[in-house]
Order: sequence, then C-alpha cells, then structure tokens
Amino acid sequence: MNMVEPLKWLLSDAKAVDNWIKHWLEKKSSNIIKIPRLLQAMEYASLNGGKRVRAGLVCASNRMACHYSNKVSEDSAVSVAASVELLHAYSLVHDDLPSMDDSDLRRGLQSTHKKFDEATAILAGDALQTAAFEILTEQNLALTDTQKIKLIRYLSIAAGVSGMAGGQMLDLEAETELYNIERVTQMQQLKTGSLITASVIMGGIVGGANTSLIKALSRYSENLGVAFQIKDDLLDYQGSAVELGKPVGQDNIRGKASFIEHYGINGAIKKAEEFAEKACESLQDYHQHAMELQSLAKLVINRTY
Ligand code: IPE
Ligand code: IPE
Ligand code: MG
Ligand code: MG
Ligand code: MG
Repeated sequence: MNMVEPLKWLLSDAKAVDNWIKHWLEKKSSNIIKIPRLLQAMEYASLNGGKRVRAGLVCASNRMACHYSNKVSEDSAVSVAASVELLHAYSLVHDDLPSMDDSDLRRGLQSTHKKFDEATAILAGDALQTAAFEILTEQNLALTDTQKIKLIRYLSIAAGVSGMAGGQMLDLEAETELYNIERVTQMQQLKTGSLITASVIMGGIVGGANTSLIKALSRYSENLGVAFQIKDDLLDYQGSAVELGKPVGQDNIRGKASFIEHYGINGAIKKAEEFAEKACESLQDYHQHAMELQSLAKLVINRTY
C-alpha cells in the first residue's frame, strides 16, 4: 500500500486464510460429484487477491480475546476467517452483477460474471455463501456446538435482511431516492458494517471473549464498518482503478448515496477519520493488546486500495 506500512500480521493471516480456502476447494474438487465449472468460478471469486481485512479482523480479535481468556484457538480462527471471507467473496460476485452495480472489474481481474457468465456467477455466489456456513459446522473445528451455533447465528444475521443483503437493497433504492445522512449511515452499517462487525465478534467468540470485551469489540467494529465504507466511497471518487483493481467514478454515475454527497470530499475524509478514531477509542482500556485492531482501523482510512 502506497505511503501506508503494510501490517505484517495481516499479511500472514491473509496467507493462512488463502491456503485454507485453497485446501478446502481442493477437497471439494476430489469429491465424487464433479462440477468443475462451478468450482472454478468459486475459486476464481475467492482466491483472487482480496486484502483479507475481514480475515485479519477475525484473527486479530481472536488473538486479543485469547490473551484475556488464556485460550489457544488460532486454527479455529483461521477456519472462521475463511468462512467470513467466502461470504464476503459471494457478496462481491453478486454486487458486480449487471442487475446490481454492473461492474466488469474486481480485484484487478474480470468480474466473475464476465470471466464465466451471469448464471455461473450467481451460482458461484450461492455456493460460496453456503460454504461459509458449512465450514462453521465442520466436525474438526475445535469449538463447542454452542460456539458453532453462536457463530452461525452471527454470520447469518450479518448476511441477511438485517445485515448485508438489507444494506444492498437500500444501496440500490438510493439510486432513485434521496437519503438523509441517518439513512446513509444505516445503509453503510448494514451493507458493509454488519460483516465487519460479525468478523470482529466471531473472532472474539472463538477466543472466549467475556461480555465486556464483546461490548468493546462491538463498539470498535460498528465505527470501523462506517469508516470502511466511507473510505471505499472516497476511493471511488479519488482513487486509481489500476491500484484499486475495480472501476472508479461509478458511484456518482449510478447516483449512489454516500457521505461525500452530504459532506463533500473533505467532510467525508473527516468523518472517516472520526469513525476510525472512535473505533480505536473503544478499545483503549485494553492497551497494547488492542494494537493490532487499532492499527487496522488506521490502515482502513489511509489505504489507497
Ligand atoms: C469491498 O471490500 C466491498 C465493500 C464492502 C466496501 P474490500 O475493499 O474489503 O474488498 P477486497 O476483499 O479487499 O477485494
Ligand atoms: C459494498 O459496496 C458492496 C457489498 C456489500 C458487497 P460497493 O458496491 O461500494 O463495493 P465495491 O466498491 O463494488 O467493492
Ligand atoms: Mg454496491
Ligand atoms: Mg459495487
Ligand atoms: Mg464502492
């Protein structure tokens, strides 16, 4: 990332999750039922070099929780991080479809519906979404059934009508409706914030976080989610398509609702900073054990892709 120090731990978590997903897809390919085209599309959409911010959030939040609970749950955290990243990959495949944002470029490559075709992309999205939940039920995941049910509940709420899918509906409606800033904030919280919150909380659950830590993590992630989407919108206005690996200038053309529309570029930058600051403050009682999550919040608003 230009001008921004890459976070070593994030790169390492990203690598672990990439390997995990690769291995999982390989296992699926060796199944008796062979559907190579769908598997290829799933692989294309999930192993194409995302930043793995959500994976990093799961793993960092897990490490933080483990410090206080004296648990060791790194392997389970990587599986959970893979689950969240597959769900995120599905959301991107569907977000790019012609009937949604109609975007031909993702992570520097053709979007899944361009590389394959629309129907295959829809099915790959569907299968990536269910894969996320399948992973959370796996027998060899070293978690109790109660923990697994909690994780499934968090992720399903975050992905559904009260989360990402609901936010995406608001995002589409905003193309023809005028939203006030409260509605824009709610849309950002749902479409992007819910999966970011789920990542942080799920990492906490895996690491045995107590109630007060879960509360602090919730405040952190709710603020981070909004900061993340404001920055995404700013990059659509000001970023470089080559660096971002996705088209720029599209939000304005499509009439997307954003903080920029309400506060202008500089106002939106300030708001992103404020949300990121609030995120960091939420964890200040945890001192150096919150450093990874705090550094990630800073990276989120300073990134150039
Ligand atoms: C893009 O998310 C979509 C949003 C929710 C804003 P990311 O910027 O995390 O995308 P990848 O995973 O790094 O490609
Ligand atoms: C978030 O918004 C998308 C999802 C929740 C999947 P955007 O539509 O702005 O994301 P990008 O810019 O296409 O990555
Ligand atoms: Mg969108
Ligand atoms: Mg989009
Ligand atoms: Mg965007």
